[in-house]
Amino acid sequence: MKLLTGNSNKNLSKKIAKYLKSKLVNSSIKKFADGEIYIEINENIRGNTIFIIQSISSPANDNLMELLLCIDALKRSSAKNITVVIPYFGYARQDRKVVPRTSISAKLVSNLITKAGADRIVTVDLHAGQIQGFFDIPVDNLFSTPIFARHVKKNIKSKNIICVAPDVGGTERARALGKMLDAGLAIVDKRRPAPGKSQVMNVIGNVKDKTCIIADDIIDSGGTIVNASKALKDRGAKEVFVYITHGVLSGEAVKKIKNSSIKKLVITDTIDNSGKTNKINNIEVLSIANLMGEAIKRISNSTSVSDLFK
Ligand code: R5P
Repeated sequence: MKLLTGNSNKNLSKKIAKYLKSKLVNSSIKKFADGEIYIEINENIRGNTIFIIQSISSPANDNLMELLLCIDALKRSSAKNITVVIPYFGYARQDRKVVPRTSISAKLVSNLITKAGADRIVTVDLHAGQIQGFFDIPVDNLFSTPIFARHVKKNIKSKNIICVAPDVGGTERARALGKMLDAGLAIVDKRRPAPGKSQVMNVIGNVKDKTCIIADDIIDSGGTIVNASKALKDRGAKEVFVYITHGVLSGEAVKKIKNSSIKKLVITDTIDNSGKTNKINNIEVLSIANLMGEAIKRISNSTSVSDLFK
């Protein structure tokens, strides 16, 4: 079994390699002057089982293309089996046509990855679980909820916790965290009047005097979370903590969180944000590396991955 990393999140790849006591395959990923990507595997991988680690994070198009070219290079180098490990599966938010004449990017990206030669996918907190069905190869969707639940239990001493979904789509995720914490559930009724803009219509559930734990899969512009947290505070919440798997954190997101009433935003390192979040007091990053490393180990030994979440 060998590990290959793309350029999107080398820090995470190194941590996964450390967990597995393994080395990363020697490869070169370069660009031609016009921006085209060029990949070369610098060691023999004939007959090997390879795990490629690459997030489809910003710059999403470059990172996706790099991933496809890596798979192609491995295929043409006679790798026996290629597992594509995608800590952050970008392009997943367009998973259906919400208005006429739009694309379904999640399906197109799934087709591209399969066609390039992937035999199996490992990812974390897919935006919508149904995307697994866009692939006709096995998909292991890992969950960050146990990591978040451990962090809450260790760091938040309140006896009056309620888990909050920042929109109806996030209900299942917030409920799962609530179950692990033995806490109730509230739901924010969010509308998107235009792409990238979010508006809170209502909060379903009583949050007065409670410690609110918002759980979500993605924080992008930060609008959803900042608005949800304000709505909770307006309805008497004592304090708001936020747990989100993928810190997309585009534009002014970090500044918005820093200046908000959110006590702490906890994200994972599925996306490398080391330069952005280092000095922000109310943002903490937890590593997903051991969980991903353990999943890779289990796949490679043909043992259960779902047992990790029991
Ligand atoms: C939407 O369904 C997702 O789960 C997130 O809530 C959304 O992508 C967050 O976006 P933003 O931070 O830009 O409001």
